[in-house]
Amino acid sequence: MSIAVHAPEQINAVPLVLLHAFPLDSRMWDPVTERMADDVPIVTVDAPGFGGTPAGEPGLDQFALEVVSSVRELGAEQAVVAGLSMGGYVAMAIAETAPGLLAGLGLLSTKASADAEAARATRLEMVTAIERGEHEVAVGMLENLLGETTRASSPGVVEELREQLRAAPLAGLVWAQRSMAERPDRLAALASLPEGLPALVLRGTEDRLMSSEDADAMAAALGVDPLEVAGAGHLVAVERPEAVAAALTDLYRRAVT
Ligand code: MLT
Repeated sequence: MSIAVHAPEQINAVPLVLLHAFPLDSRMWDPVTERMADDVPIVTVDAPGFGGTPAGEPGLDQFALEVVSSVRELGAEQAVVAGLSMGGYVAMAIAETAPGLLAGLGLLSTKASADAEAARATRLEMVTAIERGEHEVAVGMLENLLGETTRASSPGVVEELREQLRAAPLAGLVWAQRSMAERPDRLAALASLPEGLPALVLRGTEDRLMSSEDADAMAAALGVDPLEVAGAGHLVAVERPEAVAAALTDLYRRAVT
């Protein structure tokens, strides 16, 4: 598999690698990255089936390994890796399989636990619906992805997301749902990272998909206090990009001094 990597031509410092949520692509990070300082080299990648990356066999671990090799091919020994939701699952797969890559770790709107049986079944139902020919299966996710504040007060954000969900690539939806359904619990992997590794755990207070207990468990394993962003739901990077840019900048400065 060869993944689409978006990076500056030259990387002279530890990069910040950003991993996007399901079912979006690396452009999800644009409102955040445009608010970050120029001296932070930012690398984004598209998950299989999204953006410029072709879909492959399901598996978050294989994608995580591709991300690690791509970062090394850019000439970096280490990176600050941050992921939102599915991107967080991939960041945790990196924490388990290639902990030496990490100069810092950011986990946003995500959780370390594996799916319960019912959640796994719901994912596979989406795959079956796609195979039956239903092509707008992701649109129904909108209510769960944006917090009520954004839904009530930012019609432009709501409409843009609705369009992205309508256009969500079917091969990506299938790859991601199959891959997420089989992911393991990663709490022990987080707890075994080196003590004092700079880390960030962040969630929107209106997130319907990831609970404060999910954030607390990851934060406890990493030895940090979770950060809550008021007035944002699951897609906190889209809803409150300025707060996410500030939190990622702080993580980056703590990791790279
Ligand atoms: C995401 O935002 O990436 C998804 O909600 C993750 C998931 O389905 O578990």
